[in-house]
Amino acid sequence: MDYKQTVTNALATALDGQLSAEDIAAKLERPKTSDKGDMAFPTFTLAKLLHQAPQQIAQDLADKLDKTGFEKVEVVGPYLNFFFDKSAYSEETLNTVLTAGASYGQNDDGNGGNVPIDMSSPNIAKPMSMGHLRSTVIGNSIAEILTKNGYNPIKDNHLGDWGTQFGKLITAYKLWGNEADVKADPINKLVEYYVRFHKEDVDKPELDDEAREWFRKLENGDPEAHRLWDWFRKASLQEFNDVYDKLGVTFDTYNGEAFYNDKLAEVVQILKDKHLLVESQGAQVVDLSKHDLNPALILKSDGASLYITRDIATALYRDRTYKPAKNLYVVGSEQTYYFKQLKAVLQEMGVPSADAVQHVPFGLITVDGKKLSTRSGRIILLDKVLEESVKLAGEEINEKNPNLANKEEVAKQVGVGAIVFGDLKNERTNNIDFVLADQLKFEGETGPYVQYSRVRAESILRKAGNVAVKADGNQVSDPEAWDTIKTLADFPAMVKMACDELEPSVIAKYAIRLAKTFNKYYAHSKILADDAGLPARLALVKAVSTVLKESLRLLGVQAPDEM
Ligand code: ARG
Repeated sequence: MDYKQTVTNALATALDGQLSAEDIAAKLERPKTSDKGDMAFPTFTLAKLLHQAPQQIAQDLADKLDKTGFEKVEVVGPYLNFFFDKSAYSEETLNTVLTAGASYGQNDDGNGGNVPIDMSSPNIAKPMSMGHLRSTVIGNSIAEILTKNGYNPIKDNHLGDWGTQFGKLITAYKLWGNEADVKADPINKLVEYYVRFHKEDVDKPELDDEAREWFRKLENGDPEAHRLWDWFRKASLQEFNDVYDKLGVTFDTYNGEAFYNDKLAEVVQILKDKHLLVESQGAQVVDLSKHDLNPALILKSDGASLYITRDIATALYRDRTYKPAKNLYVVGSEQTYYFKQLKAVLQEMGVPSADAVQHVPFGLITVDGKKLSTRSGRIILLDKVLEESVKLAGEEINEKNPNLANKEEVAKQVGVGAIVFGDLKNERTNNIDFVLADQLKFEGETGPYVQYSRVRAESILRKAGNVAVKADGNQVSDPEAWDTIKTLADFPAMVKMACDELEPSVIAKYAIRLAKTFNKYYAHSKILADDAGLPARLALVKAVSTVLKESLRLLGVQAPDEM
């Protein structure tokens, strides 16, 4: 039963066409507490239209209204407060959740449409930054949310594995590098060579010439340059994969920038054929003044391609391979202008899915108030943050539940979950300061709090043993149960909203809300104390556990049964 629809219909009939169903639905409010009803309709905005005082309008409507399906409809000042039929609503909601299980909230709005998600995309030979962490966890959650809405996401790791920096890196390695060192600690060593290159080339400009030469060789397929590049790439990828394993994130493709090398000539050809390339100081650019944007530099004067050249090839490839319904780029807000340019170039080129290109930006992250940067030499490795979090979670578990069987496994689920949840509960465009200790608390708006609430539900179900679970609206009618049931019923709408807004925080905030209402219920009712109505209370507990677990899954967070 869709109560919002029932309320809307009843009002539409009573208003006799004076207000559209859509306008009515948009005005409906949800009272803060259930004692003021389950849905409220404010009438002051109707006063002008109906030439009547709002209070009078509310009273007239209440008299006229068809009240079937409602416990009562009350007039409070200018408000009409609707009280749902608790018993029918509860029973139906619980039955729906229990029958559907993990697929509760699933819809097929996406019609199976393909959605490539450009995500994570760290740069080879550099440590993965906290920004890449955000892209990884936000992208992963968006993929789950899209699947839940009937889309077919394709998670693509667009590695930064090409560009002039590889000429510098090879030069540096040739001068100061050593195979054993790189093997032992690849990314750190490569960063060290790269930093040294930049220090020394200030006084020795010939180093830059050498680097250009090595990059030229790499582009022309020179075996040695290619061997070194391939080695650096594989070694870096291995370290990145450690992080992905810890996070439990997988990718469908790893088509990095280099994957598009043999596809750049076609891009340039199309741009030429469409007369979009113009010369500017020896370089080739696409004029974007029509879009109010600066020109996009496509080829340098020496003919070298750029980041955007490879991104155009990428978009063209995705267009042909997937015919995308949406084409998403989960990349930090600092690249917003860049993605505007990219989209504009694709539109000028007439790429069919150009309009589907969507930059999904996110804000900066600092850890314990400190900005992360590789330049300044202060590299806070993501790996270390994850390890620290798992360690702290382990200590917490040791204190709270020393006899837990699979402590290490649970510490991982809680420690990693705390970081992922701590990121995703924020609207993605917000900047975040990450205070690890706060995210690990079992109370407050944290991942462990949501996990712990579900553990509580699971423990009740275990204690109940084999008592049958049965939805019965008459038996779960206290205010705390009612709030919990209404929150459960909200889930499908949240799944849709998270998808429309590409916003995992909608699900994270929902999970916190459900955990809070459930904990209130838990505190107020003796769930196991009394046999009468026990199957119905267990049905509620089971439904909560199911929806909390599914919410966490949509965020990429695990849900241990005990902790
Ligand atoms: N490697 C880039 C960086 O670290 C991100 C790539 C984003 N994806 C893209 N198609 N441009 O800044």
